[in-house]
Amino acid sequence: MLLPMLIVISITTTVISSENSTRTTKRNIMADYSSQPFVVDECRGVLFVYNNGSIVRSNKPSFDTPIQDDGSVLWKDVVFDNTNKLELRLYKPSSHSISTKLPIFYYIHGGGYCIGSRTWPNCQNFCLRLAFELPAVVISPDYRLAPENRLPAAIDDGFMALKWLQDQALSVEKDRWLSDVADFDRVFVSGDSAGGNVAHNLSVWLGAGSPELAPVRIRGYVHLAAFFGGTVRTKSEAEGPKDSFLNLDLIDRYWRLSIPLGETTDHPLVNPFGPNSPNMQEMDLDPILAIMGADDLLRDRVREYVEKLKSWGKRIEYVEFEGKQHGFFALDPNTEAAKEVVKLIKNFILENSG
Ligand SMILES: *[C@@H]1O[C@H](CO)[C@@H](O)[C@H](O)[C@H]1NC(C)=O
Ligand SMILES: *[C@@H]1O[C@H](CO)[C@@H](O)[C@H](O)[C@H]1NC(C)=O
Ligand SMILES: *[C@@H]1O[C@H](CO)[C@@H](O)[C@H](O)[C@H]1NC(C)=O
Repeated sequence: MLLPMLIVISITTTVISSENSTRTTKRNIMADYSSQPFVVDECRGVLFVYNNGSIVRSNKPSFDTPIQDDGSVLWKDVVFDNTNKLELRLYKPSSHSISTKLPIFYYIHGGGYCIGSRTWPNCQNFCLRLAFELPAVVISPDYRLAPENRLPAAIDDGFMALKWLQDQALSVEKDRWLSDVADFDRVFVSGDSAGGNVAHNLSVWLGAGSPELAPVRIRGYVHLAAFFGGTVRTKSEAEGPKDSFLNLDLIDRYWRLSIPLGETTDHPLVNPFGPNSPNMQEMDLDPILAIMGADDLLRDRVREYVEKLKSWGKRIEYVEFEGKQHGFFALDPNTEAAKEVVKLIKNFILENSG
């Protein structure tokens, strides 16, 4: 009885410690050909990667909180990418008069590039809250997820979601649900976790004033607990408790499943200061607001990002929330801290609308 158990344990350990999922999968098919398939990677109960290469996704969200929709915000879905069948969700306050136009606020959801959707209740609740409180037209796009679609798929989809807005602004047959209330000249791009990494990429890709998107004009970026990585562990990653909401195991798993095959976490799409990452020092960037929980394992990477950009004279504001973990604002938008995040965003929009 002991021997077979030992064999299984040693195979599983190989899988978890390996950085290279392709090789790992192959090795396991050979090593474990005759036994039942087993899960090698699991993410928050909704994504299962089997040793035989199969990927199974649950259609339930990881965070099954009730949707808090009191009718004060209207919303609808629109396809923005026909090729990949991607949709975005538009939100606007229901009582807004069309005499003054509202800023547009993109909210790109999180989930380590592997899970999440515009339809998840945590994402919807935060967007409903933002649309009402800012007030703004909120645009929450989906994007292709890994490991079926590794990076840069998610980033390219984020870019396409902005190009869709440009098409709207240029179209002679505008969608009046949007164009009657939305100010295409005052656009802000935010992202939560992996979405924050997308926001970073877009800020560099488009540069100050986003000329490529004219007449759409981005005025600033909001990084909400941005998901960055790197091969050298930071102190907060190395010392963060194992029972954190986003622990090191899950961080490593997300990267293993999402980075381009054969790459490391020093890839430019993961580590903004990796050996091949573009040098932001000489770039002209739009203002950034970075928000972080002090107990988030990703904290030190964001602190480094903020310190570097500040030292290079970029306009970046940083607010850290004591005692807060990853995702604290979106998991429950009714907490005092979440309300404070919305206020910070509101001020950032006001300050950068001129
Ligand atoms: C792999 O295993 C899963 C889980 O048992 C199963 O659903 C799937 O059909 C298998 N795929 C292949 C290609 O054998
Ligand atoms: C992962 O696989 C690729 C392609 O086979 C290889 O080039 C790379 O060196 C491997 N990386 C590791 C960490 O084993
Ligand atoms: C942003 O992503 C694109 C791939 O879609 C890549 O070509 C570009 O180098 C990335 N920029 C940064 C700053 O990582």
